[in-house]
Amino acid sequence: MPDAATTPARVKPRNLVGVMAYLGRYPRLCALAVSLLLVNICIEMSLPQIIGSAMTQLQYHFEWGATFSPAVFVQLYVSLVLIRAGVGMLLGPIRNRVIQRTLGDIRNAIYDSLQRLAFRYHDKANTGELISRSTTDVFRLQDFFFACLFISIDIAVSLVVIIVLIFAVRPLLGWVTLATVIPTIVLIAFYASKLQPQWRKVHDLHGEMNTVIQENIAGVRVVKAFAREQSEVAKFRTKRDVFLGRLSDTVNYWAARVPVAQFVFGLTTPLALWLGGRMVIRGEMPVGDLAKIVLYLMAVGHRMGMVGQFTNIVQNASASAERILEIIHEPKTIRSGDKDLPAGGGAVEFDHVSFRYFDGKASLTDVSFRIEPGQTVAIVGPTGSGKTTLVNLIPRFYDVDDGRVIIDGEDVRNLRLTELRRSVGVMFQETFLFSATAAENIAFGQPEATREDIERCARAAQAHEFISELENGYDTVIGERGVSLSGGQRQRIAIARAFLMDPRILILDDATASVDSQTERLIREAMRKLCEGRTTFVIAQRLSTVQHADMILVLQQGRIVERGRHDELIQRSGFYRDVFEGQLRR
Ligand SMILES: Nc1ncnc2c1ncn2[C@@H]1O[C@H](COP(=O)(O)OP(=O)(O)OP(=O)(O)O)[C@@H](O)[C@H]1O
Ligand SMILES: [Mg+2]
Repeated sequence: MPDAATTPARVKPRNLVGVMAYLGRYPRLCALAVSLLLVNICIEMSLPQIIGSAMTQLQYHFEWGATFSPAVFVQLYVSLVLIRAGVGMLLGPIRNRVIQRTLGDIRNAIYDSLQRLAFRYHDKANTGELISRSTTDVFRLQDFFFACLFISIDIAVSLVVIIVLIFAVRPLLGWVTLATVIPTIVLIAFYASKLQPQWRKVHDLHGEMNTVIQENIAGVRVVKAFAREQSEVAKFRTKRDVFLGRLSDTVNYWAARVPVAQFVFGLTTPLALWLGGRMVIRGEMPVGDLAKIVLYLMAVGHRMGMVGQFTNIVQNASASAERILEIIHEPKTIRSGDKDLPAGGGAVEFDHVSFRYFDGKASLTDVSFRIEPGQTVAIVGPTGSGKTTLVNLIPRFYDVDDGRVIIDGEDVRNLRLTELRRSVGVMFQETFLFSATAAENIAFGQPEATREDIERCARAAQAHEFISELENGYDTVIGERGVSLSGGQRQRIAIARAFLMDPRILILDDATASVDSQTERLIREAMRKLCEGRTTFVIAQRLSTVQHADMILVLQQGRIVERGRHDELIQRSGFYRDVFEGQLRR
C-alpha cells in the first residue's frame, strides 16, 4: 500500500479520474442522461425570458396602451414546465441505472483484486479496514457520480449560459456578475483544498472503528472467555468518539465557510437592482429586462450553493476513491507464468532457497532438498522454525527471495498459477468452512463435481458417516451460519476436499493435532489413502505420524539441521532424537 506520507499531492485528481473511468464504461447511458439534463437546463434558462418579456409587454401596455394577452405567456410557461417534469421522470431511472451499474463494477473490481492479491498483502492488511473500504467507501462514490453527472454539468452549463444571457441584456450588469462570481468560486475552491485531507482522516478513522467491530465479532468467544467485554466496549467508544469528533469538525468547517462565500455573492443582487433600477428610471432599459437579470442572478445564487455542495461531495469522495483505488491498483506481486505443468509424478526440489517476510529476519535460509514422485517428506522442528513457511513456497503463496522451487523440472514461477495451485493440495492448520452445505464445502475446489464423486471422496475421508447423520445429510448447511462441526470433523471435510481435487502434491500442516485417539485413527486412515501415489509433505509435532516418511527434514531457525529417515536420525544425537525420546517418555 503506498504510504500516504510519500504520495505526492498531485496524484490525487487521478484517483477521481480513476473512478470516472468506470462511469465511462456506459457512454450511451451517460450521453442520454446528460442530453436530458441539458434539455432541462434549456427550459430553466428560458423561463426568466418568458417572465421578463411578459413584464416588458405589461409595461408597454400601461405606458402606451399596447395589447397584452397573458394567456400566451401562461400557456408557454405551463407547457415548458410540463416538459421539464416529463424529462425529469425519464432522467431519474436512467441516472440510477448508470450509477448503480458503475458502483457494481467498482465493487467487482475491489473483490477481484482482494482475491488476487498475494498473501503478503493480506498479512499486512486488516479485515475491518478492507470491509470499510469495500462497503462504506463505495457508497460514498454514489454521491460523487451523481455530482459528476448532474451537479457539475448543471453548474458549468448554467453559469456560462446565464452570464452570456446577462451580458446580452446589459453588458455592465454582466461585468458586475462576473466580478462577484469569480471571487466566490475562488474562495470556495480555497476552502475546499483544505477539506480533502480532513475527509481522508475521517474515512481512515472510520476504518479503524470498523476494525474494532470486526475483531470483536470474529473474536467474541475470546473476549467473553477473558471477561474483557467492558474494556472492549470502552475501546470501541474511544474509537467512535475520535471518529465522530473528527467527522463533526469536518462538517462544521465546511458549514461555517459556505455561508461566507454565499454572502459575498449575495451582494450581487442588490447591486444589480440598484444599478438596473436607475437604468429603468432613466428609460434606458425596460423593467422586464431587470426582472430577467434578477431571476438569473437568483439562479446563479442557487448554483453557488450547489458549488459548495459539489465541492464537499467531490472532496469526500476523492478521499474514498483514493482508499478504493489503493486496493484496486495494488500491484499483484505474484504473477502467473505461462507454462503448463510438465508431465510427471510430482518431484519437488528446493534449490538453495531463502525467504524472509517483509524486511525482517530470514525465515528460511539456504534450504535445499529433493523429493521423488510419490514420496513422503516429514518436516519437524520447534514452533516458529519455518515449517509452514517452507511449504507455503510450493504453491507460491509467497515467492522465494533467493534460489528456486522446482516441480517436475520446472521452476514454479514459470507455471500457470491456477494450474499450479490445482495440482498442490493444501490442508491448513485450521480448516475454514464456508456458510454452505456439506456437499458444497467438499466441492469447493471442483464446483462441477457430481454428488457421486462428492460421496466417494467423503467416504475415503471417513466423513461420510457423520455427514449422513446430519439433519439433511449432504445438504445440511455447515460453517458460520449452520451446524457447528468439531475440529476432527472439519479436518475430514478438508481431507474430502483434497481427495476431490486429486492433486499431484499434497501438503498437510499439523493435520492430526487436537483430536481424540479414535478420531485420530480415522483421520490417519483417511490420510494414508489420500497420500497414496502423491508426493506428500507432512508437518507434524507428533513423531508417531512421521516415522514412516521417506525423508525427515529437521528445521531450526529456518535452516535444515538434520535430514534422513527415522532410523538414521534416531542413531545420531540431535534435535530429532531428543524430541523423540521425550515423546516416548510421556
Ligand atoms: N505472515 C507472516 N508474516 C511475518 N512473519 C511471519 C509470518 N508467518 C510466519 N512468520 C515468522 O516466520 C517464522 C517461521 O514461521 P512459521 O509459521 O513458518 O513457523 P512454523 O514452524 O510453522 O511454526 P508452528 O509449528 O508454530 O506452526 C516465525 O519467526 C514467524 O514469526
Ligand atoms: Mg506452522
